[in-house]
Amino acid sequence: MATKPEKLIVGLDVGTSKVTTIIGEMTRDNHINILGMGTNPSLGLQRGVIVNLEQATATIATTIEQAERQAALKIGSAFVGVTGGHISSVNSRGVVAVGRTNRDISPDDVVRVIDSARSVTLPPQREVLHVIPRTFTIDGQDGVRDPVGMNGYRLEVETHIATGTISALTNLFKGVQRTGVEVDELVFSPLAASEAVLSDAEKRLGVCLVDIGAGTTDIALYIDGSIWHTAVIPIGGNNITNDISLVCRVSPEAAEKLKIKYGDASVTGPYKGLYADYYGKGPIRLDFRSRLRQEEEESDASVAPDEMLETEGLELGRKQQISRNLLNEIIHARTRQLFDMVQAEIKKSGYDGMIPAGLVLTGGTANLPGITDAAGHVLRLPVRIGAPRGLSEVAGTLSVPAFATSVGLVLWGMKKRNGAEILQSHSRRGGGAGMAVGRKFGGWLREFLP
Ligand SMILES: Nc1ncnc2c1ncn2[C@@H]1O[C@H](COP(=O)(O)OP(=O)(O)OP(=O)(O)O)[C@@H](O)[C@H]1O
Ligand SMILES: [Mg+2]
Repeated sequence: MATKPEKLIVGLDVGTSKVTTIIGEMTRDNHINILGMGTNPSLGLQRGVIVNLEQATATIATTIEQAERQAALKIGSAFVGVTGGHISSVNSRGVVAVGRTNRDISPDDVVRVIDSARSVTLPPQREVLHVIPRTFTIDGQDGVRDPVGMNGYRLEVETHIATGTISALTNLFKGVQRTGVEVDELVFSPLAASEAVLSDAEKRLGVCLVDIGAGTTDIALYIDGSIWHTAVIPIGGNNITNDISLVCRVSPEAAEKLKIKYGDASVTGPYKGLYADYYGKGPIRLDFRSRLRQEEEESDASVAPDEMLETEGLELGRKQQISRNLLNEIIHARTRQLFDMVQAEIKKSGYDGMIPAGLVLTGGTANLPGITDAAGHVLRLPVRIGAPRGLSEVAGTLSVPAFATSVGLVLWGMKKRNGAEILQSHSRRGGGAGMAVGRKFGGWLREFLP
């Protein structure tokens, strides 16, 4: 094998609609060359969580084999993305007295202070996934990035802690291990996706990543360069498809095709103004025709909103007509509800209106035309679409929003290999649970703190 195993970094994203494995090789100048990738539609997952272990394991194994074949090598371990409504997060502070008599802060003090922040009371069925230090305070002086070697009596840390249910984490862990591949780390998906799509400047300014997948929408909000709030909303593109299927009475497959081919969530395109005060504020109005004609006159859009679309009906071989207007009304209803929920999460975090860099949308559903428009309309913030970057070799196929998490997992893995092991709070390597604490502090702090 040409590549040394420690140079290999594998990202494995087990998503609701697809599983993706990316094999990367870390170069000497800290770049990643992509050696192979495999992606396959998922089986056995619901809303980001494994519900059928056998099916999920089979899909994971298939994508690993595809990637291994392309890279012409065998992998030993992978950084695995985890999401789902079972994950929750809190910010917690820790404080310790500095141990040494000369009051120089040692790596051990840093470990102890992070441990003390970590000791939040957990219900018995939950487990800590990450403890991420945001910033340190020495004797009341806050904003310290790297306290090791500095002098002080009292060391404090502010951390972001993500936890998940033991059963969901264990099932994912098992699904991967059964393919013969070890788990380097379970990584909360939006943290990985942020590595691939957010810039450092955006994180410093204040930004909210919104990864809209098939089963979940994952949120990661950064303030002052570090993670402040994370959340999972159990709604994604599948909900849009199901709504179309139910309302238009077509199969989920036909609904998915309609969504991909004709879907539009915009409020300023040909559908401008129709939905502005549509949800939660009164009865749903289905007849917009007179307003529509007015909008059409004002707009030079090539698409006629009341065009009829032909699709497969539920009955075999029977065609059905669906109004484009109705289709986009359904799509807009769901996206509006989703962004209302995103807004509620941002408010909950206490940073409403304080994220000047706005929203960065990623995940497969970010491909929906007009989605930035819908998001901006609800949240009144700048919105952009985030496609993965940061790998010198990102091939065309990988530089689309649906691969943000898998590419991000490889980038996260690179940071870890570069000396950020202390953050590996959820490590079950070799079957043993517990916290793996590394000692390469300088590298770790540089990589993860603002
Ligand atoms: N052009 C498009 N227009 C609208 N939706 C799209 C488009 N392309 C993909 N999607 C939707 O994106 C979703 C898949 O996104 P993604 O691959 O990010 O999900 P996932 O990672 O498998 O799921 P999750 O992260 O929720 O577990 C599907 O619901 C699909 O319908
Ligand atoms: Mg995903």
